[in-house]
Amino acid sequence: MKHLILIGFMGSGKSTLGLRLAKCLHLQYVDTDRYIEEKERTSIQEIFDTKGETFFRNLETEVLKELLQSDKKMIVSLGGGTPLREENQRLIKESDSFCVYLKMGIEEAYNRLKKDTKRPLLKTENPKKTIEELLTIRNPLYEETADYILDEEGKNVAMVLEELIEIEEKQNENFSN
Ligand code: S3P
Repeated sequence: MKHLILIGFMGSGKSTLGLRLAKCLHLQYVDTDRYIEEKERTSIQEIFDTKGETFFRNLETEVLKELLQSDKKMIVSLGGGTPLREENQRLIKESDSFCVYLKMGIEEAYNRLKKDTKRPLLKTENPKKTIEELLTIRNPLYEETADYILDEEGKNVAMVLEELIEIEEKQNENFSN
């Protein structure tokens, strides 16, 4: 297995869990949103505002390609919208990486995101409705892209982390057999 990739909706814990997982496994960690911000020397919000969403989406694909080419095994958290582009889905599937979807329901997503100010896509009149609409469209795409669907319902961070460690160990066993 190449990298372990975390996908899921905004607020699903990709960054928090990715970082913790990488620490536990002594692997390098990359969060594509932060990577893009470093590369562009500005925030995602600023990129959306000044250059538009398509420009940002093109950057996502570029960064994804770059990371998937790296031989050094990493834990990678992708932005919530990355798996929506067919090209990105294909890149993930063909990369020999293992992709985990951190799945949560609409209510949970809303509770986690209601005080958020950093996500440009949620700056709407009715963020709950936006979350519901986006998640309904995206859920099947996340499921289609993932090798493993990790349902976060009723689980705390420690439980999800443990499940991720088990996944990684199992993948390594399969790989070495
Ligand atoms: C987006 C999710 C964000 C960020 C951008 C767009 C999306 O990342 O990439 O605001 O389309 O869902 P997180 O999922 O890390 O919040």
